[in-house]
Amino acid sequence: MIKDTIDYIETFTDYFQPEIGIILGSGLGELADEYQEYSIPYEKIPGFEKSSVHGHKGQLVFGHIGRRKVVMMQGRYHYYEGHSMRAVTYPIRVMKKLGVETVIITNAAGAINKSFRPGDLMVITDHINHMGINPLIGENDEDFGPRFPDMSEVYTKDYIKLADLAAKKLDINLKHGVYMAASGPSYETPAEINAARIWGADVVGMSTVPEAIVACYCGLKVVGISCISNYASGISSRKLSHEEVIETTGAAKSKFKELVVLLVKNLYEY
Ligand code: HPA
Repeated sequence: MIKDTIDYIETFTDYFQPEIGIILGSGLGELADEYQEYSIPYEKIPGFEKSSVHGHKGQLVFGHIGRRKVVMMQGRYHYYEGHSMRAVTYPIRVMKKLGVETVIITNAAGAINKSFRPGDLMVITDHINHMGINPLIGENDEDFGPRFPDMSEVYTKDYIKLADLAAKKLDINLKHGVYMAASGPSYETPAEINAARIWGADVVGMSTVPEAIVACYCGLKVVGISCISNYASGISSRKLSHEEVIETTGAAKSKFKELVVLLVKNLYEY
């Protein structure tokens, strides 16, 4: 299957060879519109499933950010939509085969850490997989990576420093923290958020971890950026809603875009 996928994409894009992959989370997809040279809806790509969530477009977008060639996912597959973990992480395997070396994975997340505020941006230092499943379960293809991959540095430390440098230049107060993934689609209970805090989580969301695990396994460098869209359950008295998530990420998106663009440029100089 992967060969069919790559053949289709390479033919469509005239062998555009991206070096950086960017997964755009809820409300953050606009970046792709601005740098679009080629775009392919997911449903046209052999091996990709159809995607369908409010606030997500569902296409692969190719373009240059500065002098770097990037492939962007405008919308991603979520486990809570009923996609298999294989489908959720298939685009990462495709990126690897297209020649990508670094992936920037973004998301909207709820703040567990009380020093964070909705609208803040956070670079992910590590994660907790609380989805109850691992995307690498099943037969292993040694061509991609080992059966038991090391996860001691999923998020490349040197690139966290580059994100800090970019943030400093842009006068963004970039937070650092641990992202915990839950399967969703229900938001968490206050007791679950309390438990997550004790475990060491700073934010919670319903994505990113499957893709980060597979990227690390494939030998890709990973940078994770969360846009804090709300206080997690029980942190404030407000009820959680997807509308709030989209609204807050929408308000933070220009800051977010500037950060990602400068980070991509910094990666080039690195
Ligand atoms: N919980 C889970 N996922 C989320 C949240 C949250 O509070 N905010 C955005 N995605």
